[in-house]
Amino acid sequence: MSGRQDRPRFRGTGLGPVTARQRFERCPFCALECHDCSRAVFLVGFMASGKSSVGRELAERLGWDFLDLGERIEVREQKTIPEIFRERGEAGFRLAEANALRDLMAESLRADSVVALGGVAFVQEDNREMLRQWPSVFLETSASELWQRSLADEIERPLRGNAEEFARLSAERLPFYRKATVTIVTSGKDLATICNEIECTLQGWRKAEAAGSTQVPPTQGRTGESK
Ligand code: S3P
Repeated sequence: MSGRQDRPRFRGTGLGPVTARQRFERCPFCALECHDCSRAVFLVGFMASGKSSVGRELAERLGWDFLDLGERIEVREQKTIPEIFRERGEAGFRLAEANALRDLMAESLRADSVVALGGVAFVQEDNREMLRQWPSVFLETSASELWQRSLADEIERPLRGNAEEFARLSAERLPFYRKATVTIVTSGKDLATICNEIECTLQGWRKAEAAGSTQVPPTQGRTGESK
């Protein structure tokens, strides 16, 4: 098997590892030392939206674990994602994905984790239900930019199709991605900027939620529909 685990590990942007004290200060949920938050965040978005790269960077900045659902599927099934699609079709892949997510939530999701979901995981209502108590972040980029990125990164994606099919699938999924807790537009931004925005937006969301509102300051991202 050769799959996502073989991808080169993202090397970060030169920011050093955070200390234990900074780690408390950098909690994206409240920006204060806190002991009662659920410290996990889920990244959602279409193929090539940067869920894994942003997730690794965000986890490194926070000193949290990084979990990649695509990798979990491949390890659990002992097959690559393209092999699963070839042998079991899309329905079989979705089942494998839901099973891997259930395992991840039950066994691997300790406190302090950033989780990159696969492109379709958040579309499934049962999966969203599993994630209901944690914040999710939709990484939004135009379909044309995602298409260009997907051509460049050389990952085999069974559902990618041609540019037209790719754009259609992306539009179909958009309403589901919008159910994420917050949306961060990533076009033209580097990883450090995106991670800063995620932290600031989640802090805003957490404060607004504590104050009884789901609105966050508009300059720092958007809140999603309720899940
Ligand atoms: C898929 C996205 C892929 C992978 C599979 C299906 C999709 O994950 O799970 O090819 O339907 O959007 P990434 O979003 O990590 O590329």
